[in-house]
Amino acid sequence: MDYFEIIGQNTLKGEIEISGSKNAVLPLIAASILNENSLQKFTNVPLLSDTITIIKLLEKMGASVSENENSISIDNSKLNIPFAPYELVKTMRASFYVLGPLIAKFGEARISDPGGCAWGPRPIDFHIKGLKLLGVNFKRDHGYLNATTKRLTGSTISFPKISVGATGNVVMAAVLAKGTTRIYNASSEPEIQQLCNYLNIMGAQISGIGTNEIVIEGVKSLSTNKSIKIIPDRIEAGTFLIAAAAVGGEVQLNNIAIEHLSTVIDKLRQTNVLIETNSSSIRIKSNPNILNAVDLETNEYPGFPTDLQAQWMSLMSVINGNSNLKENIYFDRFTHVPELNRLGCKITLDKNNAKIRGKSNLSGAQIMSTDIRASAALIIAALCAEGLTRIDRIYHIDRGYYKIENKLSKIGANIVRKKT
Ligand code: UD1
Repeated sequence: MDYFEIIGQNTLKGEIEISGSKNAVLPLIAASILNENSLQKFTNVPLLSDTITIIKLLEKMGASVSENENSISIDNSKLNIPFAPYELVKTMRASFYVLGPLIAKFGEARISDPGGCAWGPRPIDFHIKGLKLLGVNFKRDHGYLNATTKRLTGSTISFPKISVGATGNVVMAAVLAKGTTRIYNASSEPEIQQLCNYLNIMGAQISGIGTNEIVIEGVKSLSTNKSIKIIPDRIEAGTFLIAAAAVGGEVQLNNIAIEHLSTVIDKLRQTNVLIETNSSSIRIKSNPNILNAVDLETNEYPGFPTDLQAQWMSLMSVINGNSNLKENIYFDRFTHVPELNRLGCKITLDKNNAKIRGKSNLSGAQIMSTDIRASAALIIAALCAEGLTRIDRIYHIDRGYYKIENKLSKIGANIVRKKT
């Protein structure tokens, strides 16, 4: 198994190219099932292990997929088995995204129930309730959900809480339903915006994209021969910004979408880091010794993303002052805290609130990665720590960050991938 060895306290300096967004490419690959043109090319694709998982899933259903550097071409003309097995759904919950397109295209699907995840329960009840309102029947057997419908019919769906995945799944089914579907409390995340825009390029009629009320007029079929460029990964960009702030130095990120990072940039500026922006690049200059702690709450877009909460804790641990952090999306998403504390962070938890003591002297230790974003937080803390840190189970990070060690080494970090 691979692990990272990191020797901390090297200043960071240089430029990093940000990859395409993981959370955008996964639903787009699922949505390609709906393309009657059958051949779909995506560019700026991050070839992460999660991307490979969803590609394997489509291949299992009969598709053929070819990869070339950062683009993929999907031929769905022989995709005819609407089945998502446990092995692929359990490694990545986002495999569940195929449910909406499969039910829309075939009128049936058999898909493994994803169960829990590394940081606690992650239910699928909103997906199920939403699809039921569109006319889908569900039966469970042996850990699987069997979905069938005679005819999808538009409906009004009001989610109790904003859900990225449930919005995506319901939208992908509703585009081929008879009549109008209205989704209240819909996700406005950029990744869902790109999904809706892609569906519209194929001929769907979706309005309200980027708001919390999406309206879909069902159409008979969808087709495009256009190549689609995946949007830049705002979470990868945010991770490197936070890393640069915490470790110190001067770093430029290229291939970003500045409009997706407003809240993160505002929060970072409140700590006193210097940030210069233009539409597709951003430059950050930081001396952590003169930064001040800032309180934070995670929220749905355009709020501060839960996917950067762990990384923010690492930053707050090394700069002046104490801070409070409230996790509003996943109340249990704190598996990184004991590992960060092993490096010398002083973080205490009370339900979904964390108190973070600043100016902690971090020192290297052997620690373990627990999920994608938690791993990124551990790397940032290790880059700030004195001496050697070993991070085990880095397969988590490979799910969401493309060649992170190469990108960090290029800007001066001492990080090496090794094998046990
Ligand atoms: C997506 C992202 C993930 C991010 C999360 C929140 C992908 C592949 N993953 O995950 O990186 O952390 O959004 O921004 O894009 N909920 C329910 N019932 C449901 C669905 C969700 O109660 O059926 C709750 C969840 O427990 C959570 C909240 O809704 O509290 C938001 O979850 P959701 O937006 O659905 O997360 P994902 O789409 O799984």
